[in-house]
Amino acid sequence: TVPVMTIDGPSGAGKGTLCKAIAEKLQWHLLDSGAIYRVLALAALHHRVDISSEEALVPIAAHLDVRFLSVDGELQVILEGEEVTSEIRTQDVSNTASKVAAFPRVREALLRRQRAFKEAPGLIADGRDMGTVVFPEAAVKIFLDASAEERAERRMLQLQEKGFSVNFERLLSEIKERDDRDRNRAVAPLVPAADALVIDSTGMTIEQVIEKTLEYARS
Ligand code: CDP
Repeated sequence: TVPVMTIDGPSGAGKGTLCKAIAEKLQWHLLDSGAIYRVLALAALHHRVDISSEEALVPIAAHLDVRFLSVDGELQVILEGEEVTSEIRTQDVSNTASKVAAFPRVREALLRRQRAFKEAPGLIADGRDMGTVVFPEAAVKIFLDASAEERAERRMLQLQEKGFSVNFERLLSEIKERDDRDRNRAVAPLVPAADALVIDSTGMTIEQVIEKTLEYARS
């Protein structure tokens, strides 16, 4: 059977960077499940679907025409034939993604699509419920956390690097609001799996987090 390593945690904890580094190191496949929720949010916005209606969102989720390409090691996201890689990273899409992700039947409709990423030689799965719901059988589960302030700061630097201008206070309050929504929803709430290793990366460098994760995976 194909080995899976799950990396869950709140926004800005450094999961994306960690997953990419480990996937490269092990030469495993990578699932960015957040990108799927983001693409769904963007599709709903494009098609002017009522994002508070689970009923309206389920068919969009079920028929989502999305492709993920790896171009020079970078994830490229194609929605209905159109490249949306940076469009799905805006704050508007982030907030919409966490709203549509709260609906049980929307999550259900995306399950099979996520599980299809499990292919030899192995999979690194990045998200909120990878270890609890999507891949409960995973042998290695990490829950990566950090203080809200540090997460907002990291996210700000990331967005600035991509050319987005951001206001720190607004980003911090949006991150807290999104975390609350992710933690308190009825299905697949953001909590560590019972068998996950929790790493608090506050004050740690990304290299230290990568080292700790690899050490744990080897043990
Ligand atoms: O990049 P960031 O960590 O801020 O967010 P993301 O991982 O791209 O996920 C965006 C939103 O999708 C999250 O706030 C969650 O509400 C939702 N999501 C989820 O519900 N389950 C997942 N496995 C991944 C993301």
